[in-house]
Amino acid sequence: MSKYWSPIVSALKPYIPGEQPRMANLVKLNTNENPYAPSDKVIEAIRSAASADLRLYPDPLALDLRKTIAARYGVAPEEVFVGNGSDEVLAHSFAALLKHDRPLLYPDISYSFYPTYAGLFGIDAIEVPLNSSFGIDIADYRRPAGAIILPNPNAPTGIGLPLTEIEALVTEHPDQPVVIDEAYVDFGGESAIALVPKYENLLVVQTFSKSRALAGLRVGFAIGQRPLIEALERVKDSFNSYPLGRAAQAGAIAAIKDEAWFEATRGKIIASREKLASELKKRGFEVLPSLANFVFARHPDHAGQALAAKLRERAVIVRHFAKPRISDFLRITIGTDEECARLVAALDEIL
Ligand SMILES: Cc1ncc(COP(=O)(O)O)c(C=O)c1O
Repeated sequence: MSKYWSPIVSALKPYIPGEQPRMANLVKLNTNENPYAPSDKVIEAIRSAASADLRLYPDPLALDLRKTIAARYGVAPEEVFVGNGSDEVLAHSFAALLKHDRPLLYPDISYSFYPTYAGLFGIDAIEVPLNSSFGIDIADYRRPAGAIILPNPNAPTGIGLPLTEIEALVTEHPDQPVVIDEAYVDFGGESAIALVPKYENLLVVQTFSKSRALAGLRVGFAIGQRPLIEALERVKDSFNSYPLGRAAQAGAIAAIKDEAWFEATRGKIIASREKLASELKKRGFEVLPSLANFVFARHPDHAGQALAAKLRERAVIVRHFAKPRISDFLRITIGTDEECARLVAALDEIL
């Protein structure tokens, strides 16, 4: 606290990012990063962008990148918005689309940045409880609302909703913007991008951080019909006209173009996830059905916090949330098969 702080800053509850420790030989399964290196073509493109042109501002419209994303997903470049990680795209969505007189709805167990953004932008929000199986019931969203946001698959549960459910949600709220945060959709979920031409209230947000292994580059995007995208552009151009540097734009274009790398990598992660889930179940864990690059699991005989601490003693870091209903769960990012094996070996020692 300081007398120099504005009232809004004093009231903020900032998001706490997963730690990035610098320990040797660490098995880092705490922030849902991709365990594989990004495509060589991405590195090559970033190297080429590291030229004398860096003295010039980047394209504020990121037109080449938006065209590339648009072609990949079958929409028009005007229906694509890009930002500095999907966190920034989400933040702009909160400011541009999710603040209304009636409350914003999102799940009670979900991405912890949502309440932070709601606080930052002074948005009245209602946390809608997950059902007893930790799933989202769209029927629970049938209540007065100004807007809705939810991740699909949800985080940290990993549970996905089928596209038919997302379509029903969007159809049931024709007067509200509905934002679907698809940070993890490429690991087995169904993307709602296919619904964008049909629904003017739908905005789909995705990221390069997970399935394209580019968390360090900070690129995310949204796809929606023109009026929603224009709202995001208005906020962006009132905040920072150049959120993506030249290297980020060049790298992201190369990432979208390397479909072979994308398919191979996500396939490996999905296979490792199924293997890890089955190893955990063999050891007595309850593992929620995940469509993401992580699993959410609890053991009937071991408290989550203690388990996380004992894993840490063995240089394996996972994410634990000290929150009601989920405090016994661990969120475990899918690593390489070797990293997953080290996790399982550490668990065998502990259990
Ligand atoms: C549900 C969800 N949405 C969005 C993000 C943000 O990702 P980024 O800002 O790296 O694109 C994350 C990151 O962990 C996430 O879990």
